[in-house]
Amino acid sequence: MKNILRIGNKPITIENNILQLTDSPNLVTTGDGDKYIGYEHIGGAYSGNRKYVIGERDGIVASYISDIVGDGVFLDLACGDGALTVPCAKCGIRIIAGDISNGMMMILQERAKRNNVSLENVTLCRMNALNLPIEDESVDCVVANSMLHLISNPQKVLDEIYRVLKTGGSFVCLSDAPARKNSIYISEYEKENAEYRRAVGEIYDAYWEELKAYDVYAKRYSWKFDRESACKAMFREVEIKVIERGMPYTERLVDGFLPRFEGRGFSDQVDVPSKIHKVVSDKVVASVREKYGKTFENIAYHVIEEDICIYRYKK
Ligand SMILES: C[S@@+](CC[C@H](N)C(=O)[O-])C[C@H]1O[C@@H](n2cnc3c(N)ncnc32)[C@H](O)[C@@H]1O
Repeated sequence: MKNILRIGNKPITIENNILQLTDSPNLVTTGDGDKYIGYEHIGGAYSGNRKYVIGERDGIVASYISDIVGDGVFLDLACGDGALTVPCAKCGIRIIAGDISNGMMMILQERAKRNNVSLENVTLCRMNALNLPIEDESVDCVVANSMLHLISNPQKVLDEIYRVLKTGGSFVCLSDAPARKNSIYISEYEKENAEYRRAVGEIYDAYWEELKAYDVYAKRYSWKFDRESACKAMFREVEIKVIERGMPYTERLVDGFLPRFEGRGFSDQVDVPSKIHKVVSDKVVASVREKYGKTFENIAYHVIEEDICIYRYKK
């Protein structure tokens, strides 16, 4: 990737197989400049108990991307813990996987290892999406999944993505569309879903209530952006593809919400000091656990899996 990455003349450090191509901080929430929420502080809590699994949906998207990329180069921007990078690596395509968080990319490597996926075609880089260390017109496809809302100036990231894409290259955006297959399945689980919502609500309410004593309040860092309109104005054309899913899907508290909450992984927890978080979350979870009894961890939420909607913007 030597002629694609902007490495410059100064020596580059490599930490845990990750090229360090920026010295920007992991997290910027104040000041006059652009703000962003890197996930270094969340790390393993982000994907809960699924952090080392290759998800079926991600496998489907990976094969779509690998068809587009062929023998070109794919940039998985804000690759995080590798939900998409790893199945794409399994398809054998050449990848630049970049994120501001080394910790997230360590999990990516562990996810690959546990699934026997080689990362020999993957160049891991610590990079800032607001200033990509990548040459103009050098990559064939970019995905920046679930990250534009974490940046106060998402248009700047889009401009960077456009700049590094080759003419004819694709910016692929993923979103969920309500499953088209209608099902009565969910109604069977109304009671359990209500219990799940109640338990989560009780944990959240008690947590923020307790934190008042420490003078800590929720602040949600997430920026609204009309990605569709912005991309339509920039790109030559858009191709939309819907992959039908509609399968029943169940997530237990212990697999998703709890590890993420306990790992301070929701965006409104960013400002909660870690020691205070630990004391308060332990207390709150213990008391809700006692109230719900042995089955607490297994309380599950049942949904119909949404269809996968792929927007392919062509430069
Ligand atoms: C919600 S996660 C999504 C990860 C992955 N794309 C996925 O879909 O699972 C957002 C990722 O964006 C990264 N991120 C946030 N701000 C960034 C920035 N300025 N430059 C690069 N990555 C950034 C975070 O570190 C985090 O790994």
